[in-house]
Amino acid sequence: MKNNLKVANIGMKFGMSHIEGAISYGAEIAAICDCDVDNLRFAGERYSIDSQKWHTDYMDIVNDESIDIVTVAVPDQMHKKISCDLLRAGKNVLCEKPLALTRADVTEIIKAADASTGKFMVGQICRFTPAFEKAKEIIDSGAIGEIYFAESEYAHDYMDLVSTWRSDPLRHGVIGGGCHAVDLLRWLAGDPQEVFAYGMHKMLPGVEYDDATIAVMKFDDNVAGKVFVSTGCKRDYTMRTVIYGTKGTLICDNTSPAMTLFETDENGKTKEPELITVEVNNHNAAREFEVFADAVINDSPVATDAREGAKTVEVCLSIIESSKTGEPVRPDYNF
Ligand SMILES: NC(=O)c1ccc[n+]([C@@H]2O[C@H](COP(=O)([O-])OP(=O)(O)OC[C@H]3O[C@@H](n4cnc5c(N)ncnc54)[C@H](O)[C@@H]3O)[C@@H](O)[C@H]2O)c1
Repeated sequence: MKNNLKVANIGMKFGMSHIEGAISYGAEIAAICDCDVDNLRFAGERYSIDSQKWHTDYMDIVNDESIDIVTVAVPDQMHKKISCDLLRAGKNVLCEKPLALTRADVTEIIKAADASTGKFMVGQICRFTPAFEKAKEIIDSGAIGEIYFAESEYAHDYMDLVSTWRSDPLRHGVIGGGCHAVDLLRWLAGDPQEVFAYGMHKMLPGVEYDDATIAVMKFDDNVAGKVFVSTGCKRDYTMRTVIYGTKGTLICDNTSPAMTLFETDENGKTKEPELITVEVNNHNAAREFEVFADAVINDSPVATDAREGAKTVEVCLSIIESSKTGEPVRPDYNF
């Protein structure tokens, strides 16, 4: 069955990582699409895809009944339209993060996913970063006890990345890139019940939204968290993440080959730290595609389905709202 999967990929920039994911899974690339012919040709030639499979109109893919899975990597503002058209045609859709930029749009995607015979997954790729997969495994094993504080940051210099669609005020840094850190904290520590944030704006004069934001959050059960987002930072890309538990502490990020685990002995005393070696792969598109393709083949649930993607967007929108109003905001997870 694996080798029989027919895959189409829409959006030929970051979307080329989806082609690579599908190829490493052993699937057939049945169609690729980009409205920009240069980008389309570049990807088609790079992966030796027959030019008869090149399309500039994604509706060709919507209408092709032979295709099993479609990956979507177009500007965030287009996620809703393209995903909904594909879902209404019964396609299995793997769409890039963030799910969408507004509550109205995520709600529409949820409705289309609920009504579709196809499966839907939002590519919250940090859940497949080796260090973060390992962190989840360690936390779930109970090795660091109960979490009482969790922090993550998304520090990524966008100086060379700012484009028309990334400058859109709706594509605030907290939702565009910061959704990675927010989704990671939700996955590791649960859903924040209240957030409070401050915004700063010193680095990216060309964009209207803040280029740095600090948010604190209150979870259930005596647990707090923090997310820091900087899209103008002067340093290498990092998602440094620290999880504090009652019996230990984990320090990891997506760009380091080692993570640090502190555990306690039988007397509750902190032991020497253990360095755990991990592969550095902060865009593990192969694993992401594998997880979705397996869910399609086995007809099993998808962890980052439309509702899960919507909850991450809701936390991001709450952080942005708080940074503007100076008031705490309680995310509404009722989708
Ligand atoms: N998971 C990650 O870490 C990660 C990293 C980068 C980008 N992304 C996401 O991937 C998506 C794409 O980002 P990017 O960096 O490739 O953007 P980009 O602007 O570099 O490329 C987008 C591509 O989509 C094409 N496109 C636009 N509208 C289209 C349409 N209607 N039909 C077909 N093609 C269309 C453009 O021509 C372009 O080639 C975004 O949602 C972004 O947030 C995710």
